[in-house]
Amino acid sequence: MAALFCFFAALVFLFLLPLFRMLSLGRRRKLPLPPGTLGWPYVGETFQLYSQNPSVFFASKQKRYGSIFKTHVLGCPCVMISSPEAAKFVLSTRADLFKPTFPASKERMLGRQAIFFHQGDYHMKLRKLVMRAFKPDAIKNKVSQIEAIAVEALRSWEGQSMNTFQEMKTYSLNVALQNIFGEDEIRYREQLKRCYYILEKGYNSMPINLPGTLFHKSMKARKELAQILAKILFSRRQRKEESNDLLGSFMEEKAGLTDEQIADNVIGVIFAARDTTASVLTWIVKYLGENPSVLQAVTEEQELIIKSKNNCGQDQILNWADTKNMPITSRVIQETLRVASILSFTFREAVEDVEYEGYLIPKGWKVLPLFRNIHHSPDNFPDPERFDPSRFEVAPKPNTFMPFGNGVHSCPGNELAKLEMLVLLHHLTTKYRWSMVGPQNGIQYGPFPLPPNGLPITLFLKT
Ligand code: HEM
Repeated sequence: MAALFCFFAALVFLFLLPLFRMLSLGRRRKLPLPPGTLGWPYVGETFQLYSQNPSVFFASKQKRYGSIFKTHVLGCPCVMISSPEAAKFVLSTRADLFKPTFPASKERMLGRQAIFFHQGDYHMKLRKLVMRAFKPDAIKNKVSQIEAIAVEALRSWEGQSMNTFQEMKTYSLNVALQNIFGEDEIRYREQLKRCYYILEKGYNSMPINLPGTLFHKSMKARKELAQILAKILFSRRQRKEESNDLLGSFMEEKAGLTDEQIADNVIGVIFAARDTTASVLTWIVKYLGENPSVLQAVTEEQELIIKSKNNCGQDQILNWADTKNMPITSRVIQETLRVASILSFTFREAVEDVEYEGYLIPKGWKVLPLFRNIHHSPDNFPDPERFDPSRFEVAPKPNTFMPFGNGVHSCPGNELAKLEMLVLLHHLTTKYRWSMVGPQNGIQYGPFPLPPNGLPITLFLKT
Protein backbone atom coordinates (compact mmCIF):
# COMPACT_ATOMS: atom_id res chain seq x y z
CA MET A 1 0.00 0.00 0.00
CA ALA A 2 2.80 2.37 1.03
CA ALA A 3 4.70 1.54 -2.17
CA LEU A 4 1.59 2.30 -4.26
CA PHE A 5 1.16 5.62 -2.46
CA CYS A 6 4.81 6.52 -3.09
CA PHE A 7 4.42 5.58 -6.77
CA PHE A 8 1.39 7.89 -7.20
CA ALA A 9 3.05 10.69 -5.24
CA ALA A 10 6.09 10.47 -7.53
CA LEU A 11 3.83 10.52 -10.62
CA VAL A 12 1.92 13.57 -9.40
CA PHE A 13 5.24 15.29 -8.57
CA LEU A 14 6.71 14.50 -12.00
CA PHE A 15 3.69 15.87 -13.86
CA LEU A 16 2.97 18.83 -11.66
CA LEU A 17 6.50 20.17 -11.34
CA PRO A 18 6.83 21.28 -14.99
CA LEU A 19 3.28 22.71 -14.78
CA PHE A 20 4.22 24.80 -11.72
CA ARG A 21 7.43 25.88 -13.45
CA MET A 22 5.48 27.00 -16.53
CA LEU A 23 2.97 28.89 -14.42
CA SER A 24 5.63 30.69 -12.42
CA LEU A 25 7.60 31.46 -15.62
CA GLY A 26 4.42 32.83 -17.17
CA ARG A 27 3.84 34.98 -14.09
CA ARG A 28 7.44 36.23 -14.17
CA ARG A 29 7.21 37.01 -17.86
CA LYS A 30 4.27 39.30 -17.02
CA LEU A 31 6.24 41.18 -14.40
CA PRO A 32 7.32 44.70 -15.39
CA LEU A 33 10.93 45.49 -16.17
CA PRO A 34 12.56 47.93 -13.74
CA PRO A 35 11.97 51.62 -14.59
CA GLY A 36 14.44 53.44 -16.83
CA THR A 37 15.22 53.95 -20.50
CA LEU A 38 17.09 51.80 -23.02
CA GLY A 39 18.19 54.60 -25.38
CA TRP A 40 19.00 54.05 -29.05
CA PRO A 41 19.01 50.63 -30.72
CA TYR A 42 22.31 48.80 -30.08
CA VAL A 43 24.31 51.79 -28.72
CA GLY A 44 21.69 52.32 -26.02
CA GLU A 45 22.93 54.92 -23.53
CA THR A 46 26.65 54.17 -23.84
CA PHE A 47 27.35 57.68 -25.06
CA GLN A 48 25.55 59.30 -22.10
CA LEU A 49 27.52 57.02 -19.75
CA TYR A 50 30.95 57.88 -21.16
CA SER A 51 30.45 61.52 -22.18
CA GLN A 52 30.50 62.44 -18.49
CA ASN A 53 31.85 61.07 -15.25
CA PRO A 54 30.11 57.64 -15.02
CA SER A 55 29.19 58.39 -11.39
CA VAL A 56 27.12 61.36 -12.56
CA PHE A 57 25.25 59.07 -14.98
CA PHE A 58 24.54 56.52 -12.23
CA ALA A 59 23.58 59.18 -9.67
CA SER A 60 21.18 61.01 -12.01
CA LYS A 61 19.49 57.72 -13.00
CA GLN A 62 19.17 56.71 -9.37
CA LYS A 63 17.65 60.06 -8.47
CA ARG A 64 15.09 59.71 -11.24
CA TYR A 65 14.20 56.01 -11.03
CA GLY A 66 15.24 54.81 -7.56
CA SER A 67 17.65 52.09 -6.49
CA ILE A 68 16.86 49.65 -9.32
CA PHE A 69 16.68 50.82 -12.93
CA LYS A 70 17.26 49.52 -16.44
CA THR A 71 19.52 50.93 -19.13
CA HIS A 72 21.44 49.69 -22.19
CA VAL A 73 25.20 50.19 -22.37
CA LEU A 74 28.10 48.66 -24.35
CA GLY A 75 25.68 46.65 -26.47
CA CYS A 76 23.92 45.00 -23.51
CA PRO A 77 20.63 45.57 -21.71
CA CYS A 78 21.42 46.09 -18.02
CA VAL A 79 19.78 46.42 -14.66
CA MET A 80 21.68 48.66 -12.26
CA ILE A 81 21.14 48.30 -8.53
CA SER A 82 22.22 50.60 -5.77
CA SER A 83 20.60 49.39 -2.55
CA PRO A 84 22.64 47.35 -0.06
CA GLU A 85 19.89 44.69 0.04
CA ALA A 86 19.83 44.28 -3.75
CA ALA A 87 23.64 44.07 -3.90
CA LYS A 88 23.56 41.36 -1.24
CA PHE A 89 20.84 39.49 -3.16
CA VAL A 90 22.86 39.50 -6.41
CA LEU A 91 26.35 38.92 -5.01
CA SER A 92 25.67 36.71 -2.04
CA THR A 93 22.26 35.25 -1.13
CA ARG A 94 21.20 34.41 -4.71
CA ALA A 95 24.64 34.42 -6.33
CA ASP A 96 23.55 31.15 -8.02
CA LEU A 97 21.19 33.19 -10.25
CA PHE A 98 23.92 35.55 -11.49
CA LYS A 99 27.18 34.59 -13.17
CA PRO A 100 30.25 36.81 -13.51
CA THR A 101 30.65 38.27 -16.96
CA PHE A 102 33.47 40.11 -18.75
CA PRO A 103 34.15 41.26 -22.32
CA ALA A 104 35.47 38.34 -24.40
CA SER A 105 38.72 40.22 -25.11
CA LYS A 106 39.49 40.45 -21.38
CA GLU A 107 38.89 36.71 -21.01
CA ARG A 108 41.30 35.97 -23.85
CA MET A 109 43.97 38.20 -22.42
CA LEU A 110 43.80 37.09 -18.79
CA GLY A 111 43.11 33.49 -19.76
CA ARG A 112 39.76 31.73 -19.94
CA GLN A 113 40.51 29.50 -16.98
CA ALA A 114 41.14 32.35 -14.55
CA ILE A 115 39.07 32.41 -11.35
CA PHE A 116 36.96 35.50 -12.22
CA PHE A 117 35.14 33.86 -15.11
CA HIS A 118 33.90 30.75 -13.30
CA GLN A 119 31.25 29.44 -10.98
CA GLY A 120 30.64 26.12 -9.23
CA ASP A 121 33.19 23.47 -8.31
CA TYR A 122 36.12 24.75 -10.41
CA HIS A 123 35.66 28.25 -8.99
CA MET A 124 35.46 26.97 -5.39
CA LYS A 125 38.61 24.90 -5.87
CA LEU A 126 40.55 27.91 -7.18
CA ARG A 127 39.20 30.12 -4.43
CA LYS A 128 40.38 27.72 -1.73
CA LEU A 129 43.86 27.63 -3.30
CA VAL A 130 44.08 31.44 -3.53
CA MET A 131 42.70 31.96 -0.01
CA ARG A 132 45.21 29.47 1.38
CA ALA A 133 48.07 31.64 0.12
CA PHE A 134 46.59 35.00 1.17
CA LYS A 135 44.67 34.32 4.40
CA PRO A 136 46.04 35.99 7.56
CA ASP A 137 47.80 32.82 8.77
CA ALA A 138 49.67 32.55 5.48
CA ILE A 139 50.76 36.19 5.19
CA LYS A 140 51.58 36.68 8.90
CA ASN A 141 55.18 35.70 8.28
CA LYS A 142 55.56 37.84 5.17
CA VAL A 143 55.46 41.22 6.97
CA SER A 144 59.22 41.72 7.02
CA GLN A 145 59.56 40.85 3.30
CA ILE A 146 56.83 43.32 2.41
CA GLU A 147 58.50 45.87 4.66
CA ALA A 148 61.80 45.44 2.82
CA ILE A 149 60.02 46.17 -0.48
CA ALA A 150 58.32 49.26 1.03
CA VAL A 151 61.53 50.66 2.52
CA GLU A 152 63.40 50.16 -0.74
CA ALA A 153 60.62 51.82 -2.76
CA LEU A 154 60.49 54.86 -0.47
CA ARG A 155 64.27 55.19 -0.51
CA SER A 156 64.25 55.22 -4.32
CA TRP A 157 61.61 58.00 -4.32
CA GLU A 158 63.49 60.18 -1.80
CA GLY A 159 64.01 63.72 -3.10
CA GLN A 160 62.30 62.82 -6.40
CA SER A 161 59.36 64.26 -8.26
CA MET A 162 57.26 61.25 -9.03
CA ASN A 163 53.97 60.07 -10.44
CA THR A 164 52.40 58.52 -7.34
CA PHE A 165 50.22 56.02 -9.20
CA GLN A 166 53.07 54.75 -11.42
CA GLU A 167 55.37 54.25 -8.42
CA MET A 168 52.64 52.61 -6.34
CA LYS A 169 52.06 50.23 -9.26
CA THR A 170 55.71 49.17 -9.06
CA TYR A 171 55.36 48.66 -5.31
CA SER A 172 52.16 46.61 -5.54
CA LEU A 173 53.56 44.52 -8.40
CA ASN A 174 56.71 43.73 -6.39
CA VAL A 175 54.60 42.68 -3.39
CA ALA A 176 52.33 40.56 -5.61
CA LEU A 177 55.25 38.82 -7.36
CA GLN A 178 56.89 38.12 -3.99
CA ASN A 179 53.72 36.52 -2.67
CA ILE A 180 53.08 34.51 -5.83
CA PHE A 181 56.60 33.24 -6.58
CA GLY A 182 58.40 33.40 -3.21
CA GLU A 183 62.11 32.67 -3.64
CA ASP A 184 61.81 32.26 -7.42
CA GLU A 185 60.75 35.88 -7.73
CA ILE A 186 64.33 37.19 -7.55
CA ARG A 187 65.56 35.08 -10.48
CA TYR A 188 62.68 35.78 -12.81
CA ARG A 189 61.57 39.25 -11.64
CA GLU A 190 62.85 41.27 -14.59
CA GLN A 191 61.59 38.84 -17.26
CA LEU A 192 58.19 38.57 -15.61
CA LYS A 193 57.88 42.33 -15.32
CA ARG A 194 58.97 43.00 -18.91
CA CYS A 195 56.24 40.68 -20.25
CA TYR A 196 53.60 41.88 -17.82
CA TYR A 197 54.18 45.53 -18.78
CA ILE A 198 53.51 44.71 -22.45
CA LEU A 199 50.52 42.54 -21.57
CA GLU A 200 48.80 45.20 -19.45
CA LYS A 201 48.98 47.78 -22.26
CA GLY A 202 46.48 45.63 -24.16
CA TYR A 203 43.94 45.20 -21.34
CA ASN A 204 41.76 48.03 -22.56
CA SER A 205 42.65 47.92 -26.25
CA MET A 206 40.40 46.99 -29.17
CA PRO A 207 40.50 43.18 -29.55
CA ILE A 208 42.05 43.19 -33.04
CA ASN A 209 44.65 40.45 -33.26
CA LEU A 210 46.71 41.75 -36.22
CA PRO A 211 50.50 42.31 -36.23
CA GLY A 212 51.30 45.77 -34.87
CA THR A 213 48.15 46.20 -32.75
CA LEU A 214 48.37 46.55 -28.97
CA PHE A 215 46.13 43.52 -28.60
CA HIS A 216 48.47 41.40 -30.74
CA LYS A 217 51.55 42.51 -28.78
CA SER A 218 49.74 41.73 -25.54
CA MET A 219 48.78 38.27 -26.67
CA LYS A 220 52.42 37.59 -27.63
CA ALA A 221 53.61 38.82 -24.23
CA ARG A 222 51.02 36.57 -22.61
CA LYS A 223 52.47 33.55 -24.43
CA GLU A 224 55.96 34.51 -23.29
CA LEU A 225 54.75 34.85 -19.70
CA ALA A 226 53.27 31.34 -19.90
CA GLN A 227 56.66 30.06 -21.13
CA ILE A 228 58.52 31.66 -18.21
CA LEU A 229 55.99 30.12 -15.87
CA ALA A 230 56.47 26.71 -17.48
CA LYS A 231 60.21 27.04 -16.75
CA ILE A 232 59.55 27.90 -13.09
CA LEU A 233 57.09 25.01 -12.75
CA PHE A 234 59.59 22.61 -14.31
CA SER A 235 62.42 23.56 -11.98
CA ARG A 236 60.15 23.48 -8.91
CA ARG A 237 58.98 19.98 -9.84
CA GLN A 238 62.61 18.88 -10.22
CA ARG A 239 63.48 20.27 -6.78
CA LYS A 240 60.38 18.64 -5.26
CA GLU A 241 60.24 21.31 -2.55
CA GLU A 242 56.98 22.54 -1.10
CA SER A 243 56.44 26.32 -0.97
CA ASN A 244 53.81 28.29 0.90
CA ASP A 245 53.43 30.91 -1.85
CA LEU A 246 50.53 31.08 -4.33
CA LEU A 247 52.37 29.07 -6.99
CA GLY A 248 53.04 26.34 -4.40
CA SER A 249 49.33 26.30 -3.58
CA PHE A 250 48.34 26.00 -7.27
CA MET A 251 50.92 23.24 -7.82
CA GLU A 252 49.61 21.02 -5.03
CA GLU A 253 48.99 17.58 -6.50
CA LYS A 254 45.52 17.26 -4.99
CA ALA A 255 44.47 20.46 -6.79
CA GLY A 256 45.10 18.76 -10.15
CA LEU A 257 45.48 22.01 -12.10
CA THR A 258 47.05 21.92 -15.56
CA ASP A 259 49.97 24.26 -16.35
CA GLU A 260 47.61 26.32 -18.49
CA GLN A 261 45.17 26.72 -15.62
CA ILE A 262 48.02 27.74 -13.33
CA ALA A 263 49.27 30.33 -15.87
CA ASP A 264 45.81 31.85 -16.36
CA ASN A 265 45.33 32.21 -12.63
CA VAL A 266 48.79 33.61 -11.89
CA ILE A 267 48.27 36.27 -14.56
CA GLY A 268 44.74 36.86 -13.21
CA VAL A 269 45.96 37.41 -9.65
CA ILE A 270 48.66 39.87 -10.77
CA PHE A 271 45.96 41.74 -12.71
CA ALA A 272 43.61 41.77 -9.68
CA ALA A 273 46.30 42.79 -7.21
CA ARG A 274 48.23 45.54 -8.92
CA ASP A 275 46.28 48.56 -10.15
CA THR A 276 43.63 48.16 -7.45
CA THR A 277 46.07 48.46 -4.53
CA ALA A 278 48.12 51.15 -6.32
CA SER A 279 45.00 53.30 -6.94
CA VAL A 280 43.94 53.11 -3.30
CA LEU A 281 47.47 54.04 -2.13
CA THR A 282 47.47 57.00 -4.52
CA TRP A 283 44.19 58.29 -3.05
CA ILE A 284 45.54 57.78 0.50
CA VAL A 285 48.58 59.96 -0.31
CA LYS A 286 46.23 62.63 -1.66
CA TYR A 287 43.79 62.56 1.28
CA LEU A 288 46.60 62.58 3.87
CA GLY A 289 48.24 65.49 2.03
CA GLU A 290 44.97 67.43 2.13
CA ASN A 291 44.12 66.63 5.76
CA PRO A 292 47.07 67.62 8.00
CA SER A 293 45.29 66.70 11.24
CA VAL A 294 44.62 63.17 9.97
CA LEU A 295 48.24 62.87 8.78
CA GLN A 296 49.37 64.01 12.22
CA ALA A 297 47.18 61.42 13.97
CA VAL A 298 48.47 58.62 11.72
CA THR A 299 52.08 59.74 12.24
CA GLU A 300 51.66 59.75 16.02
CA GLU A 301 50.12 56.29 15.97
CA GLN A 302 53.00 54.96 13.88
CA GLU A 303 55.65 56.71 15.99
CA LEU A 304 54.15 55.10 19.07
CA ILE A 305 54.80 51.68 17.52
CA ILE A 306 58.46 52.61 16.99
CA LYS A 307 58.72 53.96 20.56
CA SER A 308 57.13 50.94 22.20
CA LYS A 309 59.44 48.62 20.25
CA ASN A 310 62.41 50.69 21.46
CA ASN A 311 61.19 50.55 25.04
CA CYS A 312 60.89 46.78 24.93
CA GLY A 313 64.34 46.50 23.37
CA GLN A 314 62.80 44.89 20.25
CA ASP A 315 64.33 45.43 16.84
CA GLN A 316 62.58 47.90 14.57
CA ILE A 317 61.28 45.36 12.04
CA LEU A 318 57.50 45.37 11.85
CA ASN A 319 55.58 42.22 12.68
CA TRP A 320 51.97 41.07 12.26
CA ALA A 321 51.00 42.16 15.80
CA ASP A 322 52.23 45.70 15.04
CA THR A 323 50.01 45.87 11.97
CA LYS A 324 47.02 44.86 14.12
CA ASN A 325 47.78 47.79 16.40
CA MET A 326 47.14 50.58 13.88
CA PRO A 327 43.43 51.50 14.32
CA ILE A 328 43.73 55.10 13.09
CA THR A 329 45.73 54.12 10.00
CA SER A 330 43.26 51.30 9.31
CA ARG A 331 40.36 53.75 9.42
CA VAL A 332 42.19 56.00 6.92
CA ILE A 333 42.39 52.99 4.59
CA GLN A 334 38.70 52.17 5.10
CA GLU A 335 37.61 55.76 4.49
CA THR A 336 39.76 55.96 1.36
CA LEU A 337 38.25 52.71 0.09
CA ARG A 338 34.80 54.23 0.64
CA VAL A 339 35.36 57.72 -0.79
CA ALA A 340 37.49 56.61 -3.75
CA SER A 341 35.42 53.41 -4.41
CA ILE A 342 37.95 52.39 -7.02
CA LEU A 343 35.74 49.51 -8.18
CA SER A 344 32.68 51.66 -8.82
CA PHE A 345 30.62 48.62 -9.81
CA THR A 346 30.90 45.02 -10.91
CA PHE A 347 29.19 42.96 -13.62
CA ARG A 348 26.98 39.90 -13.34
CA GLU A 349 24.58 38.24 -15.81
CA ALA A 350 21.20 36.70 -14.92
CA VAL A 351 21.37 32.97 -15.73
CA GLU A 352 17.56 32.72 -15.73
CA ASP A 353 14.57 35.08 -15.45
CA VAL A 354 14.77 36.51 -11.94
CA GLU A 355 12.07 38.24 -9.94
CA TYR A 356 13.33 40.98 -7.64
CA GLU A 357 11.01 43.27 -5.69
CA GLY A 358 8.19 42.79 -8.19
CA TYR A 359 10.42 43.46 -11.23
CA LEU A 360 11.66 41.06 -13.87
CA ILE A 361 15.38 40.79 -14.53
CA PRO A 362 15.34 38.82 -17.80
CA LYS A 363 17.76 35.95 -18.43
CA GLY A 364 20.91 37.18 -20.19
CA TRP A 365 20.64 40.77 -18.95
CA LYS A 366 23.66 42.25 -17.20
CA VAL A 367 23.23 43.23 -13.57
CA LEU A 368 25.50 45.87 -12.09
CA PRO A 369 25.70 46.38 -8.32
CA LEU A 370 26.85 50.01 -7.98
CA PHE A 371 29.34 50.00 -5.08
CA ARG A 372 30.13 53.71 -5.42
CA ASN A 373 26.48 54.74 -5.10
CA ILE A 374 26.07 52.58 -2.00
CA HIS A 375 29.26 54.07 -0.47
CA HIS A 376 28.17 57.61 -1.35
CA SER A 377 24.56 57.42 -0.21
CA PRO A 378 23.79 59.80 2.68
CA ASP A 379 21.45 57.09 4.05
CA ASN A 380 24.50 54.89 4.64
CA PHE A 381 27.21 57.51 5.29
CA PRO A 382 26.15 61.00 6.44
CA ASP A 383 27.87 63.84 4.56
CA PRO A 384 29.24 61.21 2.16
CA GLU A 385 31.62 63.43 0.15
CA ARG A 386 33.58 64.38 3.28
CA PHE A 387 36.80 62.46 4.00
CA ASP A 388 36.34 61.54 7.64
CA PRO A 389 38.08 58.36 8.86
CA SER A 390 36.52 58.72 12.31
CA ARG A 391 33.16 57.63 10.88
CA PHE A 392 34.57 54.07 10.95
CA GLU A 393 34.89 54.22 14.76
CA VAL A 394 31.37 52.80 14.52
CA ALA A 395 30.89 49.77 12.25
CA PRO A 396 28.94 50.62 9.06
CA LYS A 397 25.41 49.22 8.62
CA PRO A 398 25.36 45.68 7.14
CA ASN A 399 26.09 45.49 3.40
CA THR A 400 26.73 49.21 3.04
CA PHE A 401 30.53 48.92 2.83
CA MET A 402 31.79 46.53 0.15
CA PRO A 403 35.13 47.76 -1.21
CA PHE A 404 36.18 44.13 -1.59
CA GLY A 405 32.84 42.92 -2.94
CA ASN A 406 30.56 40.43 -1.25
CA GLY A 407 29.78 36.71 -1.47
CA VAL A 408 31.44 33.93 -3.43
CA HIS A 409 33.54 36.23 -5.66
CA SER A 410 34.59 38.71 -2.95
CA CYS A 411 38.26 39.63 -2.89
CA PRO A 412 40.52 36.84 -1.57
CA GLY A 413 43.48 39.28 -1.56
CA ASN A 414 41.93 41.83 0.82
CA GLU A 415 44.14 40.94 3.81
CA LEU A 416 47.29 41.21 1.72
CA ALA A 417 46.13 44.52 0.22
CA LYS A 418 45.49 45.99 3.70
CA LEU A 419 48.79 44.67 5.01
CA GLU A 420 50.90 46.16 2.22
CA MET A 421 49.14 49.52 2.61
CA LEU A 422 49.69 49.59 6.40
CA VAL A 423 53.37 48.70 6.06
CA LEU A 424 54.00 51.40 3.44
CA LEU A 425 52.10 54.00 5.49
CA HIS A 426 54.17 53.20 8.58
CA HIS A 427 57.39 54.23 6.83
CA LEU A 428 55.87 56.98 4.70
CA THR A 429 54.36 58.90 7.63
CA THR A 430 57.20 58.44 10.12
CA LYS A 431 60.06 59.37 7.75
CA TYR A 432 58.71 61.45 4.87
CA ARG A 433 56.57 64.37 3.81
CA TRP A 434 55.42 65.29 0.31
CA SER A 435 54.11 68.20 -1.67
CA MET A 436 51.54 67.76 -4.40
CA VAL A 437 52.32 69.28 -7.79
CA GLY A 438 49.73 70.61 -10.26
CA PRO A 439 45.92 70.35 -10.18
CA GLN A 440 44.54 67.86 -7.69
CA ASN A 441 40.82 68.24 -8.16
CA GLY A 442 38.80 66.01 -10.42
CA ILE A 443 38.98 62.35 -11.30
CA GLN A 444 40.55 60.59 -14.27
CA TYR A 445 39.65 57.03 -15.24
CA GLY A 446 42.40 54.65 -16.22
CA PRO A 447 40.10 52.56 -15.91
CA PHE A 448 40.05 52.94 -12.11
CA PRO A 449 39.29 56.43 -10.79
CA LEU A 450 42.49 58.36 -10.05
CA PRO A 451 43.53 61.91 -9.13
CA PRO A 452 44.55 63.92 -12.25
CA ASN A 453 47.76 62.68 -13.92
CA GLY A 454 48.26 59.96 -11.29
CA LEU A 455 49.00 62.56 -8.58
CA PRO A 456 52.47 64.02 -9.24
CA ILE A 457 54.27 64.68 -5.92
CA THR A 458 57.73 65.50 -4.60
CA LEU A 459 58.80 63.32 -1.69
CA PHE A 460 61.34 64.50 0.87
CA LEU A 461 62.78 63.31 4.18
CA LYS A 462 61.05 64.71 7.27
CA THR A 463 63.10 67.29 9.14
C1 HEM B 1 42.81 47.62 -2.40
C2 HEM B 1 42.98 46.66 -3.28
C3 HEM B 1 41.89 45.76 -3.81
C4 HEM B 1 40.57 46.02 -4.02
C5 HEM B 1 39.81 47.32 -3.76
C6 HEM B 1 39.98 44.80 -4.54
C7 HEM B 1 38.62 44.64 -4.83
C8 HEM B 1 38.07 43.48 -5.31
C9 HEM B 1 36.65 43.28 -5.56
C10 HEM B 1 35.56 44.33 -5.34
C11 HEM B 1 36.48 42.02 -6.01
C12 HEM B 1 35.15 41.34 -6.37
C13 HEM B 1 34.76 41.63 -7.79
C14 HEM B 1 33.41 41.04 -8.13
O1 HEM B 1 32.64 40.62 -7.27
O2 HEM B 1 33.11 41.03 -9.34
C15 HEM B 1 37.79 41.40 -6.08
C16 HEM B 1 38.04 40.12 -6.53
C17 HEM B 1 39.28 39.55 -6.58
N1 HEM B 1 40.46 40.07 -6.06
FE1 HEM B 1 40.70 41.90 -5.23
N2 HEM B 1 40.95 43.84 -4.64
C18 HEM B 1 42.13 44.38 -4.19
C19 HEM B 1 43.36 43.75 -4.09
C20 HEM B 1 43.59 42.44 -4.42
C21 HEM B 1 44.83 41.74 -4.21
C22 HEM B 1 46.08 42.34 -3.54
C23 HEM B 1 44.68 40.48 -4.73
C24 HEM B 1 45.63 39.33 -4.77
C25 HEM B 1 46.69 39.21 -4.09
C26 HEM B 1 43.32 40.38 -5.23
C27 HEM B 1 42.77 39.27 -5.85
C28 HEM B 1 41.46 39.16 -6.26
C29 HEM B 1 40.93 37.99 -6.94
C30 HEM B 1 41.72 36.75 -7.37
C31 HEM B 1 39.56 38.23 -7.14
C32 HEM B 1 38.54 37.31 -7.82
C33 HEM B 1 37.84 36.44 -6.79
C34 HEM B 1 36.80 35.52 -7.37
O3 HEM B 1 36.35 35.71 -8.50
O4 HEM B 1 36.43 34.58 -6.64
N3 HEM B 1 42.69 41.59 -5.03
N4 HEM B 1 38.73 42.31 -5.63
